Amino acid sequence: MTTGDLHGQRLLIVDFGSQYTQLIARRVREAGVYCEIHPFDAPAAFMREFAPRGVILSGGPESVTLADTPRIPPVVFELGVPVLGICYGMQAMAAQLGGAVTGSDKREFGHAVVELAAGSDLFATVNGGAGGALPVWMSHGDQVTALPAGFRVTAATDTAPIAAMEDPARRWYGVQFHPEVTHTEQGEALLMRFARDICGCAGLWTPANIVEDAIAQVRATVGDDRVVLGLSGGVDSSVVAALLSRAIGDQLTCVFVDNGLLRKGERAEVERTFAPSNALDLDLVVVDAEAEFLMRLAGHEDPETKRKIIGNTFIDVFDREAHRLTGVKWLAQGTIYPDVIESAASKFGKAHVIKSHHNVGGLPERMKLKLVEPLRELFKDEVRRIGLHLGLPREMVFRHPFPGPGLGVRVLGEVTKARADVLREADAIYLEELRRADWYDRVSQAFAVYLPVKSVGVVGDARRYADVIALRAVETTDFMTARAARLPWELVERVANRIINEIEGVSRVVYDVSSKPPATIEWE
Ligand code: XMP
Repeated sequence: MTTGDLHGQRLLIVDFGSQYTQLIARRVREAGVYCEIHPFDAPAAFMREFAPRGVILSGGPESVTLADTPRIPPVVFELGVPVLGICYGMQAMAAQLGGAVTGSDKREFGHAVVELAAGSDLFATVNGGAGGALPVWMSHGDQVTALPAGFRVTAATDTAPIAAMEDPARRWYGVQFHPEVTHTEQGEALLMRFARDICGCAGLWTPANIVEDAIAQVRATVGDDRVVLGLSGGVDSSVVAALLSRAIGDQLTCVFVDNGLLRKGERAEVERTFAPSNALDLDLVVVDAEAEFLMRLAGHEDPETKRKIIGNTFIDVFDREAHRLTGVKWLAQGTIYPDVIESAASKFGKAHVIKSHHNVGGLPERMKLKLVEPLRELFKDEVRRIGLHLGLPREMVFRHPFPGPGLGVRVLGEVTKARADVLREADAIYLEELRRADWYDRVSQAFAVYLPVKSVGVVGDARRYADVIALRAVETTDFMTARAARLPWELVERVANRIINEIEGVSRVVYDVSSKPPATIEWE
């Protein structure tokens, strides 16, 4: 395989702003086919040059029955490749190719069962190609009410007589339901059929090929130059470290800043994982900057001020360390594909929400370094898969997200060493019990929070007047919305008892039951 092959067989996902667009891309990639998401209003010349083997038109929040709503760029139908329209994508196909779409008086949202016609090209691998019932996920108001010339109906429901359509001669297909959502049974088989069989792509997009390709690209980009990476211990920067170590060995220096706001044992874990004995041939510099961070945080209680101080101190420390290294020309960063898509979101992209990131913004300019971002085209699940492929420990690859400002935003109010130490112990007990009870992987994120509020307790015969620890555990798929995890009560009780008994500075433990929104996941 050559680099060209891996990216040569690719699909274009035209984005109309659906909340599911990234899910479509992830499913196509799980089918082994590389694809990219671009907004529907990307230039036609770009789409032509992209030379996809097939195009998928996403859903979207608009209505094609209204003027001034997004349309499929004509170039899509001139490429001579298969096209699959999903939901809004299908409605736009129907409207633009001579069919009709009307606003339905009945909005369909949720589970539905479609009746498939036998002999469909797109559904050839669904129900063994025999047609019949298929449970699907629907989410639409408008529906196609007349077929464009050349199309036939391939699926129907009671309320939507044209729930799927196809023109096998031109290889144009439309489905009203969402095959990318797991509630649609055999949705993967359907997308696999389209991406692999109909578009004629081999399953080249595998962890081994992705790694091989990324290594070749990094080598071609940085040559013999030296590269510096800020290693946080999180998934993304750890995978970048492992990848670059494979690609350029000791041309890479990783700087790990211990800001005193890390979880218990985190620094040791990073030192262990990236120790030379682990065959990761990289140069690791660990900077002990706890005192500097705590000194600059002293006396500050406002969350935004604290975040700024932590961010600025990180940049100062990192900059200072990097300047000690001679001949560094590149800064490596763990930017991943969703960050890239979000910053390029089209003006119609109403489903996109920009998340605020703690990052090392400003560093490349200040240090006059060029950026190398080897994960730029990967989704988080792909980053995890290649992390495992590169031999990183499972606990590191599947760990919960940890905010850049660390315990600095989990010790509410002023951050002191004593408070951070108490929180570290409480958090370690909580995570240890979650793991032991097999709950760690069943929640999306769990952590303890230090509340500087005094409460009375009785421990043994003595009255204790000390601070409070809150426990947070959430379930979420995108971290934009979340609900409190319903942990078993015995588990919560066990954690609370251990924290109060084992840590002197705590008199009480509470469990946070707030959803996001209106609450956020973190407390600051
Ligand atoms: P919120 O509190 O906004 O958190 O509901 C959503 C997710 O983002 C993480 N988070 C951060 N991550 N730098 C980060 O890298 C930050 O400053 C930051 N603030 C919040 C949070 O842990 C959760 O996973």
